[in-house]
Amino acid sequence: MAFFKKKKQSLSEDIVLPEHIGIIMDGNGRWAKKRRLPRSAGHNAGGKVFRTISRYCSDIGIKYLTVYAFSTENWKRPKEEIDALMKLFKDYLEEALRDFKDDSIIVRFIGDKTPFSDDLKALMIENEEGSKDRDGMVLNIAMNYGSRDEIVRAVKAVSADVKDGKINVDDIDEQLISDRLYTAGQPDPDLIIRPSGEYRISNFMLWQAAYTEFVIMNKLWPDFTTDDLDEAIKTFNNRNRRFGGV
Ligand code: IPE
Ligand code: IPE
Ligand code: MG
Repeated sequence: MAFFKKKKQSLSEDIVLPEHIGIIMDGNGRWAKKRRLPRSAGHNAGGKVFRTISRYCSDIGIKYLTVYAFSTENWKRPKEEIDALMKLFKDYLEEALRDFKDDSIIVRFIGDKTPFSDDLKALMIENEEGSKDRDGMVLNIAMNYGSRDEIVRAVKAVSADVKDGKINVDDIDEQLISDRLYTAGQPDPDLIIRPSGEYRISNFMLWQAAYTEFVIMNKLWPDFTTDDLDEAIKTFNNRNRRFGGV
């Protein structure tokens, strides 16, 4: 996608890029409310920012980007908001299939696909299949994702393996659990960014975020820019990660 390549970048040469960034794309509803618009308008605006930021992360050389798009708890929202979100997901996934054929980004979905409509599920699978042999950034889109649900699934998978005699209880270690999460085989996130000013994790990557650096930003997601991403990466560079050591 040549026309996306020339992006301004305010990061200096000596900056260390996080290998894996997670983003809790929050604040769409408040952005719309401030403008007296329906919440769906906020989601539309947030969808555009998602496109810009995922492209930018790929351009600057981020290896893994995980975006939280829809949680297992978000089904509690009014039907018209859910319908608008499903329409947005469908539009994006159709666009990705149609327009991003020569892209290098590997698209993965983390979360339980079961409750989505058949056409949305098919689009998710088509996007995964069509991009799996690429060599660029891995883009995990968390849809109907909840980390507690993810851990419950891992526990069930481990229990089934024990029951079937494939493993012994003593074989269970941290790696074995990690290997049964949606993110199996991927590094843990180094940096998680939450725009919209909320200081909580909202069921996102509970296991994987054991030593992740958090950057909370007082910007609503539809207002988030590539400069804000640069800022978060700079903040990350000033952190002293100790992983329990000294
Ligand atoms: C995040 O924005 C998008 C989803 C959860 C799907 P919100 O819709 O949560 O926006 P706020 O937090 O209400 O402003
Ligand atoms: C987290 O945001 C989920 C996504 C951004 C998809 P929420 O808006 O659902 O989180 P809470 O309700 O403020 O904790
Ligand atoms: Mg929210």
